[in-house]
Amino acid sequence: MKIKNGEVWRDTDGNVLHAHGGHILFYGGLYYWYGEDRRDDCYVSCYSSPDLVNWTFRNHVLRVGSPVEPTRVRSDLRLKNDNGRKVNLERPKVLYNERSGKFVMWMHYENGSDYRCAAAAVAECDTPDGDFVYHGSFNPFGEMSRDCTLFLDGDRAYFFSASRDNADMHMYLLQEDWLNVERLAGRFWPGEYREAPALVKKDGLYWFFSSFCTGWAPNQCRYAVSPRLEDGFGMLRDTGDETTYRSQPAFILTVNGSETVSYIYVGDRWDAGNYFNSRYVWYPLEFPGDGSVRMVECDELDIDAATGRISW
Ligand code: GAL
Repeated sequence: MKIKNGEVWRDTDGNVLHAHGGHILFYGGLYYWYGEDRRDDCYVSCYSSPDLVNWTFRNHVLRVGSPVEPTRVRSDLRLKNDNGRKVNLERPKVLYNERSGKFVMWMHYENGSDYRCAAAAVAECDTPDGDFVYHGSFNPFGEMSRDCTLFLDGDRAYFFSASRDNADMHMYLLQEDWLNVERLAGRFWPGEYREAPALVKKDGLYWFFSSFCTGWAPNQCRYAVSPRLEDGFGMLRDTGDETTYRSQPAFILTVNGSETVSYIYVGDRWDAGNYFNSRYVWYPLEFPGDGSVRMVECDELDIDAATGRISW
């Protein structure tokens, strides 16, 4: 079944799909797609699919009126700012914590007026598509924390975020319940201003994709490789073209099928003038085996989630 890059994508009810800057989690035989939904009182929406092509709307999992529960001594629990306006909750990522049995979401938080909070926000739920409980926002170890991602490495979960006014990429090991950071486990590419982090593990290597820092305007995607996360990464190298085919990384999707495993770059094609007109692009990633990765631009992508085969 085919997806068409850059077109308006709709859910199985025919409504426009709102899941930008997001993440896909495979759980219980279904893919769950979480992402930004900036409409009305929504923050994060969740869709599910058995085949990665047909998406059914499940729930507005985080909203202005979501239940709130502190887990830390001091964190900002407000889901509206002092002017009664919505805050910004960007780049939501969700993983399932087997130890606690909870679905844990991390995001980038701003107050809705400017980008000076530079905080991380956390929410949690018993089910993949239930009403997430908001646990507030904070600055890990007092650090700035903007564009972010989560990554599960065996039983260790890491939170990556852009720090020091986006100059450096930080990697935090999370505590066992994933509701707080345990330690700062890496500071990568100081002064390189990497944003939109997205990570995948393939054949024992960690592949880290990111953009440069130009707001909604697209720029060159770069990647770096690591044999062990806490040992750091190699050099940043280009993939895709100078605008990443007019997109910015959201996450890397692994399609683990019965015959093969495929890797797909999922990018947001932002519309700087009208956020709601932003689109999605899914581009295959090819790994020739020489330490490089190639992003393939295509108009259509045929995905067979059962076998893991993709073609374009
Ligand atoms: C981008 C960032 C987006 C959003 C945007 C706002 O650089 O990746 O998630 O924050 O800036 O200008």
